Amino acid sequence: MLHSLTQLSSLLSDLPKGQLFVLTDSHTKVHCLPLFAESIGDFSYHLLTLEAGEVTKNLTSVQLVWDFLLKHRATREAVLVNLGGGMITDLGGFAAATYMRGIRFVNIPTTLLAMVDASSGGKTGFDYKGVKNAIGTFTLPLATLIHLDFLRTLPAEELLSGFAEMLKHALIASKEEWVNLLQLLQEELPHEQLVEALGSTGVLQASIAIKEKVVAQDPHETGLRKILNFGHTVGHAIESAALERNALPHGYCVLWGMVAEVYLSVVKLGCPREVLQQLTQIMLQYYGRPQCNCKQREQLIQRMYQDKKNSANRTPNFTLLRAVGEPEINQYVSEKDIDEALEYLFSL
Ligand SMILES: NC(=O)c1ccc[n+]([C@@H]2O[C@H](COP(=O)([O-])OP(=O)(O)OC[C@H]3O[C@@H](n4cnc5c(N)ncnc54)[C@H](O)[C@@H]3O)[C@@H](O)[C@H]2O)c1
Ligand SMILES: [Zn+2]
Repeated sequence: MLHSLTQLSSLLSDLPKGQLFVLTDSHTKVHCLPLFAESIGDFSYHLLTLEAGEVTKNLTSVQLVWDFLLKHRATREAVLVNLGGGMITDLGGFAAATYMRGIRFVNIPTTLLAMVDASSGGKTGFDYKGVKNAIGTFTLPLATLIHLDFLRTLPAEELLSGFAEMLKHALIASKEEWVNLLQLLQEELPHEQLVEALGSTGVLQASIAIKEKVVAQDPHETGLRKILNFGHTVGHAIESAALERNALPHGYCVLWGMVAEVYLSVVKLGCPREVLQQLTQIMLQYYGRPQCNCKQREQLIQRMYQDKKNSANRTPNFTLLRAVGEPEINQYVSEKDIDEALEYLFSL
């Protein structure tokens, strides 16, 4: 359920004393905790802070959260507040879902990516043995609280990263949202104004609603939910190839992945070419060209075979578009077509 931060106190009204726990990372402790503390008034809480960054999303950190809960005698009535980006909401969600067979947790996402994607939908987990999100559960938070002010301190690159997932939601589900986002981007607003416009134009709420609606229809990703993987078959391949040198923001990889996958959509499903032109323009204006040592197309295609969405003995599995708002899941595309799409992406 979505609420605003002001509703936190009422959500916690039945909470026994000493049973409120808060998890932050080293950045959100500085930038977001003061506002959070203000919003809960007299409530006291126990705080645990982890080092910021995806490298922290590991089993050792999960154990630190369990130890923290045990040390302060958290009972089954306890509530864990995850105050941070997707790293914190995924990891804290997992720790809460497993502590004493599950305690309640509230997500307060502080990045755009976590607001529109990571903090809703119930996926929790952590990275294990080099595999991203290898261990996890499907567990819904008690609530997800959205508060735009947190985005004011977010680095511009992180804001754009989250915006890419909003573009994805629009492409798979809503012509109207797509047009609204194109309009917003045309205005080239500075950071502060863009943050404000995300709220005042309704595009943020619309984007969250798209994800929530898809998840509600397919909570465990047996079918329809795969539409949320649009852009991710190519995107993950670029992301993991780049990881060998330096991490790239997830949303940037998804944006580049979507350019290649819209290209495939034009070729395979007759998606209007105009969509490809619009997305390519956004890429060139805001995200730049793929910056990675991943331009060996053959190698990228091999990585797509390793994608967890694949069935054995088949070419990589894509979600493609017939048009904006008309996705098709389980599209198996030949290596030759994928190669052509990558050639387009890298020629821009
Ligand atoms: N559960 C899901 O369905 C789902 C979906 C998408 C992504 N994810 C996961 O989410 C994670 C990525 O999320 P993310 O992009 O939010 O990463 P993140 O949590 O690492 O945050 C990115 C950076 O921004 C900093 N930050 C966060 N809020 C800030 C603020 N308000 N001001 C200044 N700095 C701030 C963080 O400290 C970090 O350095 C990945 O682990 C990914 O697997 C999960
Ligand atoms: Zn994503």
